[in-house]
Amino acid sequence: MVNLVTAFKYVLISLPYLCAHNMLHVMAQWPKGGSSSTRFYDFKVQMLEVNKLCNTRNIVTINQKYPGPVVYAQEDDRVIVKLTNETPYNATIHWHGVRQMLSCWSDGPAYITQCPVQPGQTFTYEFTLVRQKGTLFWHAHFSWLRATVYGALIVYPKTGVPYPFKHPYEEHIVILGEYWQQDLVQLERTVMASGKGAPIADAYTINGHPGPRYNCSTNDVYKIDVLPGKTYMLRLIGAQLNMESFFSIASHKLTIVEADGGYTKPFITERVMLGPGQTLNVLVTANQKIGRYSMAMGPYMSAQNVTFQNITSIAYFQYLGATQNSVALPASSLPRFNDNLAAKTVMDGLKSLEVGNVPKEIDTNLFFTIGLNVNKCGSKTPKQNCQGINGGVMAASMNNNSFVIPNTPILQAYYDHINGRFTEDFPGSPLKFYDFVNGAPNSPPNNTGSTYGTRTKVLEYGSRVQLILQDTGTVTTENHPIHLHGYSFYVVGYGSGNYNPQNASFNLVDPPYMSTIGVPVGGWAAIRFVADNPGVWLMHCHLETHMTWGLSVALIVKNGKGPMETLPHPPPEMPRC
Ligand code: C2O
Repeated sequence: MVNLVTAFKYVLISLPYLCAHNMLHVMAQWPKGGSSSTRFYDFKVQMLEVNKLCNTRNIVTINQKYPGPVVYAQEDDRVIVKLTNETPYNATIHWHGVRQMLSCWSDGPAYITQCPVQPGQTFTYEFTLVRQKGTLFWHAHFSWLRATVYGALIVYPKTGVPYPFKHPYEEHIVILGEYWQQDLVQLERTVMASGKGAPIADAYTINGHPGPRYNCSTNDVYKIDVLPGKTYMLRLIGAQLNMESFFSIASHKLTIVEADGGYTKPFITERVMLGPGQTLNVLVTANQKIGRYSMAMGPYMSAQNVTFQNITSIAYFQYLGATQNSVALPASSLPRFNDNLAAKTVMDGLKSLEVGNVPKEIDTNLFFTIGLNVNKCGSKTPKQNCQGINGGVMAASMNNNSFVIPNTPILQAYYDHINGRFTEDFPGSPLKFYDFVNGAPNSPPNNTGSTYGTRTKVLEYGSRVQLILQDTGTVTTENHPIHLHGYSFYVVGYGSGNYNPQNASFNLVDPPYMSTIGVPVGGWAAIRFVADNPGVWLMHCHLETHMTWGLSVALIVKNGKGPMETLPHPPPEMPRC
């Protein structure tokens, strides 16, 4: 049976974190359990008053922590999280990167696998981390709440199983985020009603701290204290809302050893790029002269004509013996915001540590375009609602369909055979092939319209799937971080321009095994996976505005034959809409 006392011991011990001036030291603890155990967590969705950027405001959090509590577990553990909503907002939690084998009901995206948990209601998430380890995270999956509702999910190897590299002296969680001084649910509504893009974030944050370059933030800085000569592992988590980011530490090299929870061959680099939804473990050795060094998070913006926050978020990598006032050495290794090559270099460096189980034969070949659209204004008040390019309404799409989030969760409608809530006609390839990257069929102000619909793609249980993701230049080309729920996939290839099977080169030996792929700007990526997990799985761009604009699709994976190939009944207390 479950050992409550042991489970309790693993809860993160952190300083009270009610005031922005407190440093949050998230240091990972090794659990001391035997073989698989059950970890219980109590998640209360609660408001927290924070002081940031010269203003006080109430943000939505879990347990009044920002970033939220760390969930610790070991490979094959069962995790049970009771969510109680004590805020006036709807809420759900998604366990990002968790495969949710036969537990689609606990996946978390609102209106895809569950109704949101309404104010005053509870829901208990239960899942097993089947053969999973590494740095994952959790975040809200309702409206834009995940801007402040996120935290790390750390899965250690089984007891006695070492890391495939020298054990670091310490581990630290480093979460990249974006902060808005606005109600995020309201912001989503305002943005969608306007037809135009989202305003820029008020700040980038590292573990919730904007750092000294922002107003009133001299002391609102995250800091890691290091000892000379020691090696540290940083668990980097991309929890930004609408931006991709570069990250670097002044004068220090980073060695990537894990991506999205899969070990990689060590790759040494001066900087990394993390899109929202991506995680990277990097090793860094404190081998420079005693001092205080900047850890910097800056923008990666690959799209054209988009405004973004340009102030770098700085944290400190501080050696023992450095004086409090020693100036932080600047992070000159941060690339320019549009350095596509820097992003590509990181991608090129990712290779699975082991030879993977890559599907060699394919049963289902899919080709999805991903990109932005400008749709015709259909409003009687265009001044208010059609502020997109040339008086249109901004949209985003896959295979030129903008996904519409239904009112009934698709999983429930599918399971209960409720008609009319979604269709099964999402095309397996674009209806029209053209020069996707350079030749928008029409360019704005001409019609670059997408269709709208809750279209799903049905996959047979066990089918070996290859999916080409192709960026379009319809409005602007852009690097899109595409995330698939319920699966990790092998990134077998990527390149620039239009995908051409004749000259595309694939790595079927040691491709990285990921759950979010940053499809190169104006390029393509090829992923492979076996559809062995029945349920309804959302695939979407992890840039929040794009998802809200419709850059999503739901994949339905049918049941197989045996009980281990069949989605179980829903838990008894699913929330109601
Ligand atoms: Cu972290 Cu649906 O995503």
